[in-house]
Amino acid sequence: MAAARRQLARSVAARRRVAAEARGGRAGGRGSRARARLPQPRRRGARGLPRPAPARGLPRARRRLGVVGRRRSGRPARPRAARAREGLPHARRALVLPRRRRRGRLRVRRAGGRAGRGGVAARRAGRDGRAGTRRRAPLARRTRADAGGGRVNRPASVGIVGCGVISDHYVENSAAFDSFEMTACADIDAAAARKLAAKHGLEATTVDELVADPAIDVVLNLTPPAVHAPVTRQALAAGKHVYSEKPLATTTADAADLLAGADRLGLRIGCAPDTFLGGPYQSALALLEEGAIGVPLSVSAAMLVTGADAWHPSPELFFADGAGPMLDMGPYYLTAIVALVGPVRRAAGFASTRAAERAIATGPRAGTRFAVTTPTHVFAALELEGGVTASLVTSFDAVDRYVCDLEIHGTEGTLALPDPNAFEGPLRIRLGRGDWQDAPFGSRGQADARGLGLHDLVEAIAEDRPHRASGRLALHVVDVARSVLRAADERRVIEIESRVEQPQPLPVRPGTTVPRA
Ligand SMILES: NC(=O)c1ccc[n+]([C@@H]2O[C@H](COP(=O)([O-])OP(=O)(O)OC[C@H]3O[C@@H](n4cnc5c(N)ncnc54)[C@H](O)[C@@H]3O)[C@@H](O)[C@H]2O)c1
Repeated sequence: MAAARRQLARSVAARRRVAAEARGGRAGGRGSRARARLPQPRRRGARGLPRPAPARGLPRARRRLGVVGRRRSGRPARPRAARAREGLPHARRALVLPRRRRRGRLRVRRAGGRAGRGGVAARRAGRDGRAGTRRRAPLARRTRADAGGGRVNRPASVGIVGCGVISDHYVENSAAFDSFEMTACADIDAAAARKLAAKHGLEATTVDELVADPAIDVVLNLTPPAVHAPVTRQALAAGKHVYSEKPLATTTADAADLLAGADRLGLRIGCAPDTFLGGPYQSALALLEEGAIGVPLSVSAAMLVTGADAWHPSPELFFADGAGPMLDMGPYYLTAIVALVGPVRRAAGFASTRAAERAIATGPRAGTRFAVTTPTHVFAALELEGGVTASLVTSFDAVDRYVCDLEIHGTEGTLALPDPNAFEGPLRIRLGRGDWQDAPFGSRGQADARGLGLHDLVEAIAEDRPHRASGRLALHVVDVARSVLRAADERRVIEIESRVEQPQPLPVRPGTTVPRA
């Protein structure tokens, strides 16, 4: 008990220190030097997001769980303005999208047997040779001063670069979102682009054509991690907003450079994972905010799997520098930890590699051996803002197992989160020495799926507010993952240089809540 009280006091003191720093009360020291090197969250001029109403049903759920609705005593509420600073509030040009309309089915262009044959050039020239398709009117772009909130009149046009395994999921999930539609796709492998285009009625193009197409508003970067940075950079240079799969880049320097570039150009970068925006995690956030488990003291997380050599037809990218379990799967856990509990201040790590070579188990290249050039088992010890500690094990060395544990321990209870690589439950809570109970959580149905972060990005652009699955959050995650690997290599503790605010909550709207446990 005495130890817990000491921890609590330390935590409170640290949070006050952080709050004072956020108000500009302390300058100098290591942190401020670091902030000068990497892009930092904007401190001025951010337009605060109105805090959404808590999801209906949660207070009832807490009463049922015996959790009383009080704010935990030791944790001052984060100022709304401070939380809203995350993201890119200073976009010089805001994309103004026409009013949304509901759609009941996937609204992508029907292939009509002509995908990939001069479509972009034809559209630019005002010709669209395919039956049943209309030429898109040019998007209205306004200056920031002109941009008002909520003028969303029509879906944004999204072009996919990288037509591999995950691209199919993104296109299928897009049916659930009325803020954007997938219209074109490109790949260095033209056959892959044609295949995706034909399946979903997209326009297959080259990468250069796609990023140059004035009808494309957002480039969805679904290439392998090693080319995330160059593809994002090319799209930014062409004036496109970008939503990238994780990790944002394979090095902290590249991730920071992309953010700086987007800032310079007044463009936005969003980045996966967006699972933390799903119903279970947002309900967990609401429980934490209301003090359901008291003051958070620690996080314990573990992700142990067999490795992509067992299921992916081209698994080499998962075992190359810039991926591995910490950079490939770690972002799910690190993003969840940062979003729910807070950013990371210091990192230590240990790493190992079980086998220097692996063999592809599936697909046309089954049996092919390849070299492993990154650690495949990584343990991270993290200190979060406010003194909360977190342990995270990520491993591709667990044969025939899938472990995905994430628990947050507080002064009064423990919250067990579902797999942060999914949008589903269960979400469980244990108070004191009581039994584990399922906590109800809201769901957006089909819209609780990959693409939710892209949807929020498009809505945020239209509403001129920060987006949640932001490039800045992704930069912090890359910084932490890279620092863990460096800490393991150099056998030391590393101070994390990047800074980020926790994203605003994205509660499930009352009325759409479907309690599941
Ligand atoms: N596969 C999954 O289950 C999964 C899940 C979540 C996230 N992701 C992430 O999605 C991204 C893609 O993964 P994937 O499994 O779809 O990979 P994949 O290898 O199946 O597909 C990648 C595609 O990108 C193309 N490509 C490579 N370099 C390119 C370039 N310079 N320009 C254009 N296209 C290029 C390849 O030809 C390939 O078709 C990765 O960042 C991965 O971490 C994958």
